[in-house]
Amino acid sequence: MLLLDSSDQNLRAAGSAIAQGKIVAIPTETVYGLGADAFNAQAVAKIFAAKNRPTFDPLIVHVASASALDTVVRLVPPKARILVEALWPGPLTLVMPKREAIPDIVTAGLDTVGVRCPSHPVARKIIEYSGTAVAAPSANPFGYISPTTAMHVAKQLGDRVDMIIDGGPCAVGVESTVIDMTHEIPIVLRPGGMPLERIQELIGELAFPEKELKVFASPGQLKSHYAPHADLLLFEEGALARIDPASVPAHAAAIAFDTSMAEQLREATCFDMIYVLSPKGNILEAAANLFAVMRTADEAGFSTLYAERVPDAGLGRAINDRLYRASKKS
Ligand code: TXA
Ligand code: MG
Repeated sequence: MLLLDSSDQNLRAAGSAIAQGKIVAIPTETVYGLGADAFNAQAVAKIFAAKNRPTFDPLIVHVASASALDTVVRLVPPKARILVEALWPGPLTLVMPKREAIPDIVTAGLDTVGVRCPSHPVARKIIEYSGTAVAAPSANPFGYISPTTAMHVAKQLGDRVDMIIDGGPCAVGVESTVIDMTHEIPIVLRPGGMPLERIQELIGELAFPEKELKVFASPGQLKSHYAPHADLLLFEEGALARIDPASVPAHAAAIAFDTSMAEQLREATCFDMIYVLSPKGNILEAAANLFAVMRTADEAGFSTLYAERVPDAGLGRAINDRLYRASKKS
């Protein structure tokens, strides 16, 4: 395994490794991705092998700029065009009709492909130097928490990837928002780093899939998708401070949104440890720290994690979504 800093020389090396069919872990503003040439089915197969990922799960194709979009999709619906122009580069994946040249392994045989242009300059440089589009899921073993530092990737997939580029900790920290643009009223497949409010301002109404549809339309909706090893118990806002200390098992930790909540929990409860997502209660910072906190708690060996929902707006929706899924592993 090669863990490299983000010098221009290394980014060029990463680009040519991808062009040669290798798999490279790359930093993006959301989470680290495990990238391969999106037009090379064999290279993409290595990603599935490295992640132990079921092949029915489609990957996101990353482009260096919106102008490369046409190499990947055969049609950009008008509402998608509006979003691309206003919100790319950024944490927004748009599902659109795919071009023939995108192999089935990328899209799990679907006729559509999810595309995004990341805003992280290191990701964009690597894609640009590769001269292709880069298929990349999050760089975690299937079912575990997405990595937000190069170290997370090195620890879990280090011996299975050809190269890891360290671009520092991810600023957004939760995966991109995924929207299916093939319907007149676009469908939210995954809330994420791009607030739904910003999308609605630009294109109006969004639809939310039926429960069953969720699983089939976007396997990222698998509930187990972002789970730590510990059991995570998720409570409504404000409920944790009222919990009966006698009901809390041994080796339990809590995740507090901010310092004032942590202090409340310290007084009212008996957790072995209280992790704070954002000392001053900033929702962006909380999102950026969420996965790292779950990992730290796992590494510390806690068997139960207590958390509560945050206000369900903006990035709070993505945080609640990931907490919910972490609480529903199985
Ligand atoms: O922020 C992100 O999106 C990160 C970084 C690396 O870009 N990537 C990521 O990829 O989270 P992944 O593979 O872990 O999640 C991709 C999600 C999955 O829920 C997948 O089912 C959905 O996007 N997806 C991809 N293509 C799709 C398609 N054609 N139709 C429906 N859902 C699709
Ligand atoms: Mg993932």
